[in-house]
Amino acid sequence: MTAQLINGNELSKSIRAALTQRAATLKTKGLTPGLAVIMVGENPASQVYVRNKVKACEEVGFFSSLDTYPQTISENELLAHIRLLNGDPKIHGILVQLPLPNHINSTRVIESIDPLKDVDGFHISSAGALLKGMPGFWPCTPYGCMKMLDSIDYDLKGKHAVVLGRSDIVGKPMALMLLEQKATVTICHSSTLNLKEITLQADVIVCAVGKRNLLTKDMVKPGAVVIDVGMNRDDQGRLCGDVDFPGVSEVAGFITPVPGGVGPMTITMLLQNTLDSAEKYLCR
Ligand code: GUN
Repeated sequence: MTAQLINGNELSKSIRAALTQRAATLKTKGLTPGLAVIMVGENPASQVYVRNKVKACEEVGFFSSLDTYPQTISENELLAHIRLLNGDPKIHGILVQLPLPNHINSTRVIESIDPLKDVDGFHISSAGALLKGMPGFWPCTPYGCMKMLDSIDYDLKGKHAVVLGRSDIVGKPMALMLLEQKATVTICHSSTLNLKEITLQADVIVCAVGKRNLLTKDMVKPGAVVIDVGMNRDDQGRLCGDVDFPGVSEVAGFITPVPGGVGPMTITMLLQNTLDSAEKYLCR
């Protein structure tokens, strides 16, 4: 079997076209969706992510602001800035790029964001809403993975979905979203025993560990759907995921590439959350 590709660039393009239309409609009502991005320090990977987010906003006609602060900013200064953004009517989404420097308490910073502007879906009230199956912002990366499954009309009901990784921003919310669609969900992590035994039972595998070649051909059931959230570098410095793409493509039914898979979808869902937030703002 040769797996069919789920192309994140293509899917993003069609979703972003629809978002552009919705943003234009909103503008006729006098409101431009606005995203505020905050970046602390000079982490090169974060700088790239942040630039891509701001650029994506411009492309769909949103307003965006990028505030960059030196590594030495105090937590109180950062919190004061977020308070201003919470009260700014031009801003419907606030994103603080992680990781933050060690002297800043990330949890305190995230919890200071108005939950109605938490387009990253990291606030405890967004996490609680997801847990309870109530409306709220979903974290963008797992949300993008769900959209990719949706794009192939995949019915998760009764399927065995295996999530590799238990992070707060991908693994845990991913498991909840799959569960909401009535999949039988297993979460695996660094202490999991017999990983291969578990992945071989999976109809869907989501890899979100950050370790290249974690998932190999011998660990995948023929026809399974494989979603690769990993962002790693190979020996030549090229971007690669957690999945041995050439090998796994020989057995999987569907597979997402890196680059051009989950990455662009994460930004697309950030745009979607920001637009949803702006539309709700108009109804408040
Ligand atoms: N750092 C890595 N991924 C993300 C993300 O999705 N949002 C934020 N705020 N920081 C990140």
